Amino acid sequence: MRTKVAIIGSGPAGLLLGRLLENAGIETVILERRSQEYVLGRIRAGVLEQGTVELLDRAGVGDKLHAEGLVHDGVEFCFDGNRHRFNFRELIGRTVTVYGQTEVTRDLMQARDSSGLTTIYEAENVSLHAFDGDAPKLRYVKDGVEHQLACDFIAGCDGYHGVSRASVPQDALRTFERVYPFGWLGILVDRPPVADELIYAHHERGFALCSMRSPSRSRYYIQVPSSDRVEEWSDQRFFDELRRRVNEETADKLLTGPSIEKSIAPLRSFVAEPLRFGRLFLAGDAAHIVPPTGAKGLNLAASDVAALAEALIEVYTERSSAGIDSYSARVLSRIWKAERFSWWMTSILHTFPDTDAFGRRIQRAEFEYLRSSTAASRSLAENYTGLPL
Ligand code: FAD
Ligand code: DHB
Repeated sequence: MRTKVAIIGSGPAGLLLGRLLENAGIETVILERRSQEYVLGRIRAGVLEQGTVELLDRAGVGDKLHAEGLVHDGVEFCFDGNRHRFNFRELIGRTVTVYGQTEVTRDLMQARDSSGLTTIYEAENVSLHAFDGDAPKLRYVKDGVEHQLACDFIAGCDGYHGVSRASVPQDALRTFERVYPFGWLGILVDRPPVADELIYAHHERGFALCSMRSPSRSRYYIQVPSSDRVEEWSDQRFFDELRRRVNEETADKLLTGPSIEKSIAPLRSFVAEPLRFGRLFLAGDAAHIVPPTGAKGLNLAASDVAALAEALIEVYTERSSAGIDSYSARVLSRIWKAERFSWWMTSILHTFPDTDAFGRRIQRAEFEYLRSSTAASRSLAENYTGLPL
């Protein structure tokens, strides 16, 4: 089999890249290790930056998002019980949209299926070959039979644990990493959300986040030590802990119910440099990880592939390599700004095991400054709603 761009991974990065290239008449094949049902069963990110919404619109997959997505003008911070709302629309004229990653993935999969494009699910043992030359190839096993896929370019959109970054010679890659000593325990529940907008809460006992997926479905998170296991957290224990970390009014309003999903996500900051190796490009979580606090993971994946699609389209339509030559530097500049913001949000909102009394006062001062300064509030608004590429 042969295609122009072989994409590894059918997460949001791979699917959106496939869609953007399809719209420019460029053929792609996606190889995905898991089944379609498995990919759609993962509960992950929930907040789309305005630029991501615009990009999905341009890609022609924005209808359901506009019908069902919830446009939020701002978010709230709750610091030791004191709430403050940041109104992004008033501060900078921008908004975010709450629409789950699962839905974005489903919309992109449906669009790809109805265009009759090839996605090979349950492709095992994917391996990358000759991407430092002009004729890269992928090999994979499907239903016990080995196959080869020849292509012009390979897009490594296979997430943090994927094979693409692992196939790059060690000495060609530099990585930067910070692992946090806690994770987020998330719960999905079919009850109306506790507030109209998201509440990011800092408390001595740890961080908490009140989010949502729809007017009748809530998503809540609490910070837990990395060593905790999901089985240790009954729904009752989760909600008792969440109530302690938010202000009294929020705690009283919280509607609880049986969880329909519960999982712990580790927190990590990670960046690989560069993101191009001959005819292989890395994008999304294959290239970088952010802690979820700034809601940037999915949005970064989207902006990476927007730049990559532009660059590849330039190759095919203008026979110019300028875009692919500058891809890595261009996206890394934005990636590092999102890394900075996610690290900063994580630092001010979580309780770190080694934070002393001085550190806590600094966190409180940061919150007081944020809420009293229009400049600081605008900076938060600008970063949260998404910086330009
Ligand atoms: P992925 O969505 O990881 O997609 C990669 C795809 O590649 C997967 O489908 C995988 O099965 C496939 N793949 C992997 N290896 C291979 C292989 N060898 N061969 C073929 N296919 C392969 N972000 C937030 O902003 N908020 C959150 O609450 C949040 N929660 C998260 C929870 C978890 C458990 C994780 C892992 C991430 C979370 N994120 C969150 C981050 C966000 O979901 C990611 O940034 C986003 O999914 C990145 O999209 P992607 O397409 O780059 O990678
Ligand atoms: C959600 C996840 C985030 O990481 C975040 O910052 C906001 C919301 C969510 O899953 O709803």
